[in-house]
Amino acid sequence: LPAMPRKATALGFQSVPFSNADKVVVPDGYTAEVLYAWGDPVGIKGNMPAFKHDASNSAAEQGVQAGMHHDGMHFFPLPMGSRAAKHGLLCMNHEYIDPGLLTTDGNKQMTEEKYKKALAAVGASVIEVAKQKDGSWQVVRPSRYARRITLETPMALQGPAAGHPLMQTQDDPTGREVLGTFNNCANGWTPWGTYLTCEENFDAAFCDFSQKQDHDFNKTRYGVQDEEKLYKWADIDLRWDRQINRNEINRFGWVVEIDPYDPASKPVKRTALGRIKHEGATPALAKDGRVVIYMGDDQRFEYIYKFVSAKAWNPKNRKANRDLLDEGTLYVARFNEDGSGNWLELTQGKNGLTADKGFASQGELLIKTRLAADLVGATKMDRPEWISVNPHKAGEVYCTLTNNNQRGAEGKPGVDAANPRKNNLFGQIIRWQERDGDVAAADFKWDIFAMGGRPDAAAEEHKNHKQLGDLFGSPDGLAFSDSGILWIQTDISTSILNQKEYAGMGNNMMLAALPETGEIRRFLTGPNGSEITGISFTPDQTTLFINIQHPGEPASEVSDPAKPTAVSAWPDANPAGRPRSATVVVRKLDGGVIGL
Ligand code: FEO
Ligand code: CA
Ligand code: CA
Ligand code: CA
Repeated sequence: LPAMPRKATALGFQSVPFSNADKVVVPDGYTAEVLYAWGDPVGIKGNMPAFKHDASNSAAEQGVQAGMHHDGMHFFPLPMGSRAAKHGLLCMNHEYIDPGLLTTDGNKQMTEEKYKKALAAVGASVIEVAKQKDGSWQVVRPSRYARRITLETPMALQGPAAGHPLMQTQDDPTGREVLGTFNNCANGWTPWGTYLTCEENFDAAFCDFSQKQDHDFNKTRYGVQDEEKLYKWADIDLRWDRQINRNEINRFGWVVEIDPYDPASKPVKRTALGRIKHEGATPALAKDGRVVIYMGDDQRFEYIYKFVSAKAWNPKNRKANRDLLDEGTLYVARFNEDGSGNWLELTQGKNGLTADKGFASQGELLIKTRLAADLVGATKMDRPEWISVNPHKAGEVYCTLTNNNQRGAEGKPGVDAANPRKNNLFGQIIRWQERDGDVAAADFKWDIFAMGGRPDAAAEEHKNHKQLGDLFGSPDGLAFSDSGILWIQTDISTSILNQKEYAGMGNNMMLAALPETGEIRRFLTGPNGSEITGISFTPDQTTLFINIQHPGEPASEVSDPAKPTAVSAWPDANPAGRPRSATVVVRKLDGGVIGL
């Protein structure tokens, strides 16, 4: 078996320049190959329809093909626990759909079939992947593990909010079973080999025409709009209409646990982890073996959370951990001006979280997690995205704060020490050191690891004076490799990508940073209109899997493919086809550890 990679003391590649090329660019000595694109068959025996480049695959076919808009992802070795790194399962999210790309004629005219295809194109994939003799990777088809999880896959609701009256619907009076998951953004995993997929912008599919005096917390605090303009699902199915179906929305906004090793297993929404617009769910082990999950709520002025399980992980008995994430304590972070910080407990009956404030039970509190966090005085952050724990420094944790163009605007919160820029277009990476190096601690010390920006910016708040190395902005994906390199992926909005304040900075990118020196070096650039996401390494760190999301955005006039605005033909270079999100395999040609 390969040895654990040594800790990186220097980066071993030449940085790549800013790029406008419609392809994935990697440093000399590396290769990047497409593995699994939207519409590729997932690999179910006897049911492997090929992708049709005019998007004419049926809803049923889409249900056994890769979904759209790949995002968070994790590699699980086969056999379980192996460090051989030649064979495994990749679990990945399909965050959302572009209705103009999904069908031959967009969704100006909505039909039942188009609606069903949309439900089938979101959720998650489990694919089996194997390294070939020449070092490249292929999807194994057919595979007994191959699985699509969609917006129609039955899943259990468990933990304190399961069964609560606010979780009950006409179709599910128990409040304990929901159909599917969507807007799955970033992800996590557990020490017992399960995948965590996180529901982010779930409000986007719901509509609610209620009078202002009837607005509930989903309208005032979770962003539900009157009309559902993009997807038009409520035109077909009243499931998405809050005038008819008040509580369906409360069954979204959770972290979902999936066992990739058991294709018959039922996914579980773990309500103990709170209901927010979840970015990711990053695991860590406390000194006493309890499991900690760090989570960002990705919206302007939202918070950073952590969950600490009640019981310790049992490394000897996988089954004993099955429902470990149903019981524990949820906290939200306060970043004090003096560089100290506190984890504020979100438990019913504590910290003023009482029935007269609208929290009659822990279940109700979790359904309204954002309201509880408001009440205890957590710090409003600049859009918390991914979180990663330094494998070489106990209790040191990093989080991307992607941007916040409303910081300091009239009527909005002003700057603070942790979010120090008004009109923050470039973002920053914050880090904290948990007390005594224990991730279960109640307090921490924090600093800012890196600021996005550029030294030549016109406005002072977009300048970056002290960064060592390559420039970036809007950090989103973030993960350490075992070698101690911190990998950063950007998601600069395509409304400012390579223009305005970002002019000349090219396409979205992936960079490598060394935590001790602060050096940052650009490692990869993506195709036109895409963002880079989904970081996962094989255990020997010689293969890196990433996802390219929304190449060509805006690929269509959202609902009308007759008005294409596509700036990308990636990955097929087929002028009659459509740009496709896809998983990409990055390797070093000499088979070495990525980044060293
Ligand atoms: Fe789906 Fe926060 O990015
Ligand atoms: Ca993201
Ligand atoms: Ca983002
Ligand atoms: Ca995205």
